Amino acid sequence: MSKLSVLLTGAGGYIAQQLLPVFRERYDLRLVDLTRERDGAALEGVETADLLRDDPETLVPLFSGVDVVVHTGYHRPTGTDPQSLYDGERLNIDMMQRVYGLALEQGVRRVVAASTNQAAKWYEQPYFAGLRDRVDSEDYPRPDSFYGWAKAAYESLGFLYACGSLGRKLEVVQLRIVAPREIDAGEFVDLPRHRYVRDLAGYISDRDLQQLFYKSVETPEIEDEYGVPFHIFYGVSNNARTFWSITNARKVIGYRPVDDSEVRFAADIAKLLNG
Ligand SMILES: NC(=O)c1ccc[n+]([C@@H]2O[C@H](COP(=O)([O-])OP(=O)(O)OC[C@H]3O[C@@H](n4cnc5c(N)ncnc54)[C@H](O)[C@@H]3O)[C@@H](O)[C@H]2O)c1
Repeated sequence: MSKLSVLLTGAGGYIAQQLLPVFRERYDLRLVDLTRERDGAALEGVETADLLRDDPETLVPLFSGVDVVVHTGYHRPTGTDPQSLYDGERLNIDMMQRVYGLALEQGVRRVVAASTNQAAKWYEQPYFAGLRDRVDSEDYPRPDSFYGWAKAAYESLGFLYACGSLGRKLEVVQLRIVAPREIDAGEFVDLPRHRYVRDLAGYISDRDLQQLFYKSVETPEIEDEYGVPFHIFYGVSNNARTFWSITNARKVIGYRPVDDSEVRFAADIAKLLNG
């Protein structure tokens, strides 16, 4: 069987670098980023393009003939005041809109985009106050940062593209990644304990992140009960402490995370949480 053709945006970024070892084996890849280097090292096979500023005509060839776009491109806002954060994050909505638009026009079947739990991060407050047991991707988005707000906005824009009102249904999967890194307990020694517990709950290992992405790319049928091919999945491992629900990812794409932060960091947990 021929390999799926996949366009990976933000190919030089942190998340893309975690995905690339598996993506290189499984797909016929097109890689795109603003630059061809990361931390001074050349990035193999990356084409340069600016998804925000390049003319749409120059971007068309990147999207043409592609089965699935995996969007991990991310513009990092400069400045910390509310207006700068708002202006910076709006560009990420603009970039996502261009990706959806080009994908729709060029006959791409599916867009899988990196999102974040921050689209609904405020729910962590009632969770840690004992007022809530679980956060589900169907809960109304409750961002508490401009970063999370932009993700909630581009997730819902994805529904518009998926529901068919623009002429055809563009399949859209949004992956709310939580903590895609090894957790250094040392960083939490002087912080309230729930901060450490939160990262244990949100941990996702490299191989689980890779599985979540490739199953989101490859699962043939993803229409929901209403016939709309749109899903939001939380990106966490099989963590004993998790409170982000992944039951929909288990059902729709057969996500079976193999790692558990409780086991992976057992020695640190014994020291930091159990004294
Ligand atoms: N890293 C994390 O811990 C984490 C956690 C949750 C969600 N996410 C999400 O995953 C996505 C990727 O995050 P990351 O950490 O890999 O970011 P990153 O900054 O490491 O990578 C983003 C890449 O996008 C490229 N880019 C920026 N503007 C572009 C443009 N106009 N055109 C083309 N490419 C452009 C950058 O050059 C960069 O290589 C983001 O949406 C982020 O919110 C990341």
